[in-house]
Amino acid sequence: MLDKYRTEINKSLASFLTHVKKDYQLHLVNPILYDSIREFSLRQGKRIRPLLLILSYKGYSRKDPTRSLYNASTCIEFLHNFMLIHDDIIDNSSLRRGRPTLHRILNKTIPCDNPDQLGKDLAIIAGDIVYTLAIDAFLSINEDPRRKERALKYFVKTAAFTAMGEFIDTVHGVDSLDHVTEKDVFLNYSLKTARYTFDCPLVTGAILAGAPEHEIKMLAQFGLLIGQAFQIQDDIIGMFETELNIGKSILSDLEERKKTILMVHAYRTLKGKKRKEFLKLFNKPQKTLSDLEAVKEILVNCGSLEYALRAVKTRAEKANTILTTHLTLSRPCRDLIYKSLFKLFGQSQDAADNNGIKIKIY
Ligand code: IPE
Ligand code: MN
Ligand code: MN
Repeated sequence: MLDKYRTEINKSLASFLTHVKKDYQLHLVNPILYDSIREFSLRQGKRIRPLLLILSYKGYSRKDPTRSLYNASTCIEFLHNFMLIHDDIIDNSSLRRGRPTLHRILNKTIPCDNPDQLGKDLAIIAGDIVYTLAIDAFLSINEDPRRKERALKYFVKTAAFTAMGEFIDTVHGVDSLDHVTEKDVFLNYSLKTARYTFDCPLVTGAILAGAPEHEIKMLAQFGLLIGQAFQIQDDIIGMFETELNIGKSILSDLEERKKTILMVHAYRTLKGKKRKEFLKLFNKPQKTLSDLEAVKEILVNCGSLEYALRAVKTRAEKANTILTTHLTLSRPCRDLIYKSLFKLFGQSQDAADNNGIKIKIY
């Protein structure tokens, strides 16, 4: 069933982009503008965000998804792509989903003296267009205008929250580790990831379907917990997985000096000489794979990995309680939400198993 929804979402993404070609005529500006946006948007992904929007809508409206709903659900995928395009510029990343980032494609638009700058400038602009596509896609929904307006407001507000998260994240990137508390890290996780990845699609679907108010609040709470757990996991696999499996550089988190729960915990726990050694590695301007191995060893030995995995587990458990006891969406949709989300945490389990940590995540 999930595969069927995913296929329909992919169909909608492709046909919306074909419609955009006619409607916006982006290719007349330059074929690379349209082609790169299309290729980037259609790269393989789990499509978890549109999937959640559809399941929430279906679960509360008890109506089968229509083509207009599938089309509208891509809004959250475009928002995701827009954020990633800009994020990859900020983080100076070369790889996204195993292929070049958008600024690494657009640097070839015309030969020039400073292709890196050109690629980044043009990718900022392409990102702006993708944000427009997100709102345009949202408008495809065929629902009561008052619900639609309220859901759209939620959607655009979420885009602002995500940007606020990116702001915090970027400031954290240059700040020193001793300035960043665990509370700061969680605020960042909520704004940067949880809101747009889980809370927004679920709440948007529920608003469009006319779900009861208290359930909308519970869904937001559920989304926040799952989102935090998911971002903690992302920070774990960003260092403990393989480059092939994460589709981006395995050194990037370390190079960006990301202030993750792992790092903040390690700094807090280590004392004296050990803390100094850790800070020296953390602040090294250019990192190597052996630096990464050294940091991983510290994170395992001082209990940071285990601490982060426990933080994933407690949030996943709380979220599951909300899903199974407080939400009244139809049983099949609830089960599909469970299935699509909780299997994501297999990667945390792998990280635990591969590093000798005895914990059952989910
Ligand atoms: C991604 O943040 C930014 C958003 C989608 C808002 P990160 O920089 O932490 O994630 P990766 O490592 O590039 O995927
Ligand atoms: Mn990034
Ligand atoms: Mn980033």
